[in-house]
Amino acid sequence: MGFGDIVTVRQLQQGPLEEGGWLANKRVFIRVDFNVPLDKKTGAITDDSRIAAAVPTIRFAVEAGARVILASHLGRPKGRDERLSLEPVGARLAELTGYEVHLPEDCIGDAPKKVIHDLRVAAPGGQLRGGPQVCLLENLRFHEGEEKNAPEFARALAELCDVYVDDAFGAMHRAHASVDALPRLIKDRGMGMLVEQELTALARLVESPARPFVAVLGGAKVSDKIEVIEALLSRCTAVCIGGAMANTFLAAQGKAMQKSLVEEDKLALARTLLSRAAAAGVALVLPVDVVVGESLHASSGTEVSVNAVPEGTMALDIGKATVERFAAVLRDAKTVFWNGPMGLFESAPFAGGTRAIAAILGALPGFTVVGGGDSAAAVNQAGPEVAARFDHVSTGGGASLELIEGKRLPGIEALRQRGL
Ligand code: 3PG
Repeated sequence: MGFGDIVTVRQLQQGPLEEGGWLANKRVFIRVDFNVPLDKKTGAITDDSRIAAAVPTIRFAVEAGARVILASHLGRPKGRDERLSLEPVGARLAELTGYEVHLPEDCIGDAPKKVIHDLRVAAPGGQLRGGPQVCLLENLRFHEGEEKNAPEFARALAELCDVYVDDAFGAMHRAHASVDALPRLIKDRGMGMLVEQELTALARLVESPARPFVAVLGGAKVSDKIEVIEALLSRCTAVCIGGAMANTFLAAQGKAMQKSLVEEDKLALARTLLSRAAAAGVALVLPVDVVVGESLHASSGTEVSVNAVPEGTMALDIGKATVERFAAVLRDAKTVFWNGPMGLFESAPFAGGTRAIAAILGALPGFTVVGGGDSAAAVNQAGPEVAARFDHVSTGGGASLELIEGKRLPGIEALRQRGL
């Protein structure tokens, strides 16, 4: 998965040899992933880590004197939907940076062109009266051309800029116009600092993981993770499986999981994965106890053995003996990859397993990576001091899994200088 031929934003700033400060006054389009979780009732941002993660690249371009254009999707709107406007994101970005954030009505056409033209930008090394301004384009998915990777939509975006920087790691697995077709139209293109950091950390897992290499996987469905489990079975020393996904494996071993979420149509696959792991000499470690409740809305849980799940209950978290079992496997690990919560961590009675795993992984001396999505949310929720103990907490859920699976991501391929 080499990416040595992809130019970094720092290299773009160096420009051709004799010209320093090359980004000054250029219109620099930065694709960011501001697809942040929103509170269902109030619409407020519940986790701003994706916005914060893009700030170093934004600041770099602003301080280089560029006209900065930020572009992202938010949610999955079908056409224009004010509930998914990037306005609250712009307000949060302004708080984090101190910049004035201008949000034109539309992401293409005359409105953004005028905003970009009028932006107050820093003269390199000079003072700026009134502080920097950046343009944040409205949600790219308000136009169907974004998800369709439509050439005409990409051309309309290309009219806005001179330079393209992709810092939206979380969206690099999408062949969408702002990720795929657009950069191919711009000669001066490269990756931002977040993407560089993500690729460096994840490449270590794919290319040369120090062994023992242990993966901890959770989340709801086996069907979402088949390819990543297969990829990890060929690379890891052990794979620990928790979360609702473990129920399907336990049921495949003949355990009565009662009301627990079990993917009946994946039982045969789970059996195949268990025997493949055994043949490869990889330990596939499953829960020995679980915390059960009567429903997803249960206000308390009871710890039981996986051999004695009471009728009328469902497994909603891993139990303490399982945490210890996973901890014993993890103790000597030199590389760890974690993806997916161990239970229904949004609900206090069933958050214990996920929290315990976060604490155990955070204390390990080896190289520890959290692969985005809900597991990253769980780590961030546990507080900045927990997140800081990991070597890398990815901002990309699907993107980090696809990289681990060894897939080519459209957003990375579109940045390459060779073969285009
Ligand atoms: C993500 O949240 O994983 C990315 O922003 C991609 O969003 P999507 O799954 O809606 O394409």
